[in-house]
Amino acid sequence: DAADAEKGGYEHFMLKEIHEQPKALRDTLTSRLYDDKKEIVLDKIKLGKEELDKINRIYIVACGTAYHAGLIGKYSIEKYARIPVEADIASEFRYRNPIIDEKTLLILISQSGETADTLAAMRLAKQKGARVMAVTNVVGSSVSREADDVLYTWAGPEIAVASTKAYTTQLACMYMIALHLGMLKGTVNEEELTKIQESLKASPEMVEKVIKKESAIKEFAYDKFNVRDVFFLGRGSDYYASLEGSLKMKEISYIHSEAYPAGELKHGPIALIEEGTVVIALCTQTELLEKMMSNIKEVKARGAYVVALAKESDKAIEKEADKVFYIPDTQDDIAPIPTVVILQILAYYLSVARGCDVDKPRNLAKSVTVE
Ligand code: G6P
Repeated sequence: DAADAEKGGYEHFMLKEIHEQPKALRDTLTSRLYDDKKEIVLDKIKLGKEELDKINRIYIVACGTAYHAGLIGKYSIEKYARIPVEADIASEFRYRNPIIDEKTLLILISQSGETADTLAAMRLAKQKGARVMAVTNVVGSSVSREADDVLYTWAGPEIAVASTKAYTTQLACMYMIALHLGMLKGTVNEEELTKIQESLKASPEMVEKVIKKESAIKEFAYDKFNVRDVFFLGRGSDYYASLEGSLKMKEISYIHSEAYPAGELKHGPIALIEEGTVVIALCTQTELLEKMMSNIKEVKARGAYVVALAKESDKAIEKEADKVFYIPDTQDDIAPIPTVVILQILAYYLSVARGCDVDKPRNLAKSVTVE
């Protein structure tokens, strides 16, 4: 029927959209990153050096998956532009009397551009004189019309309730914004810029490579689909990526999952580790790898079954983990892009194996336009 035709041969929209990510990333990145110039051209972003110099605080505000992209945005903007950034959930931000004035930049992330709490946060900030920049997937959406600056994710229409290609393209936009602000500020050096730009340009290819592992991930999902609880652990960007992996899993497979910064293990979640508990350990951050290795040892000693995600060349992880899925070697900041794609595929096949309605999970909506 018509719906099947729209799925382009895939069983579900979610799987189709997972596979569309290399193209979505290319479309989002290529018109903005140039090969010949060390320049990033962000179409509708008019915020220039003079305006940016007046900004002393940035808030990134969003809901759900978009908020998870915002956390990576915070990390990247602070690293490259050295401006203090707070990432907040729109429904929390709007009710906590946040400190906003003309020196505030509010960055909103919203796939639909219509989420009620995100719109309310935008209007509150504008009223108090903040400049508003929006990252959205929908041209003509409320957010795109009301923001001062707009950067589109060129993901194309996203039908599945669980967001995939919108998220990875939001990440691409957050990296580009971070570099752009860093260049305006003069806080990012040439060498750093080249390295991260090269990795960003390579990200569609990295995603193609991890998608090739689909059948191995599927096999693993079919083996473990009966699991009751899953704990995700990570540090730095890996922690932010694990929040998204955990959300995907609970949304569509209804498996109870939690994501924890690995350093917090001893402050709670370790009490819940018993024989056979599945722990997914994200280990892509070079400087934090040793720390993650010790966390893996700690949960293994209590009987956990550990699945690690790591960079291809970090083979030592095989000595500690029960199962490893590799991402291509990359600049650490960009690692969440291929990492999350593995977690999307895992959540997808867990959902299929458990007989859930992948594209329309119970109680969830694609766009939450009422509070
Ligand atoms: C709903 C969707 C999520 C999405 C969130 C924010 O919960 O199911 O996939 O991340 O809303 O939506 P937005 O359109 O603002 O990105």
